[in-house]
Amino acid sequence: MADETTGDHDRRSPDDRAAALAGLDAHGAAEGSHVPGGTRAVFGEGPLDPPVAFVGEQPGDHEDLERRPFVGPAGRLLDRALGEAGLAREDCYLTNAVKHFKYEMRGKRRIHQRPTAGEVRHYRWWLEGELDLVRPRLVVALGATALLALSGRVLPVLRSRGPAEWHGRPGWVTVHPSSILRTPAEVRPAAYAAFVRDLAAVRERAEALGEPR
Ligand code: URA
Repeated sequence: MADETTGDHDRRSPDDRAAALAGLDAHGAAEGSHVPGGTRAVFGEGPLDPPVAFVGEQPGDHEDLERRPFVGPAGRLLDRALGEAGLAREDCYLTNAVKHFKYEMRGKRRIHQRPTAGEVRHYRWWLEGELDLVRPRLVVALGATALLALSGRVLPVLRSRGPAEWHGRPGWVTVHPSSILRTPAEVRPAAYAAFVRDLAAVRERAEALGEPR
C-alpha cells in the first residue's frame, strides 16, 4: 500500500512492478473466491503508469467467461463514453473492487448479486496492492462498491460525484456504467451525457496531474 505518512509510492522499475503484479494476482487467485458463486478470478487489465485507473464493482457473466474486466454491456458503454471523452481504453487500467463474479443460479441463468460490505473489505488488500504497483495518476470509482472499496466508507455516489482523494491517491467519483443501462429510456441520454462529461473532466485532471511542477 502507498505509504500514508509520506505519500511514497513503489519506486521499483516497471519490469519489477509487472512481475510483482503478476505475483499478487496469482496469490489472490490461489486464495479462491470469497463470494458465493465466484469461480475464477478476473484480473485488472492495462498498462503500468496509466493516466487513469477505473475501478468497477465485480466481473459480470461475460467478464467471468472471458476472464477480462468490462467486456460485457457495461464495458461496451464505458468504451464508447471513454472514446467520446477523449480517453482510449487501452491507455487506461481497468479493474474491479471484487475479483470474482458473485451470482445466484435462477434456472439456467447466473444472476448478479451485489457484494456485501464485508466481501468488498475482504478484497481491499488486492485492490490496494495492485494500485500501488500500477501507479495510475488518477483512480476513478465507478459506482458505490468501488467507492466503498477505495474510501473504506459507505458513501452516496451522487453526492460524492467529482474529485476525491483516498489515502493520498488522487481520485474521482462517478456512476457505474450499468446504472446508465438501467436508467429509464427517457432520461438515459442525459445520464449518459453526464457520464461523458465526468470522463472528460477525469481526462483533464489526469493530464494536469501529469504536468511537471
Ligand atoms: N461491471 C463491473 O463492475 N465490472 C466489470 O468488469 C463488468 C461489469
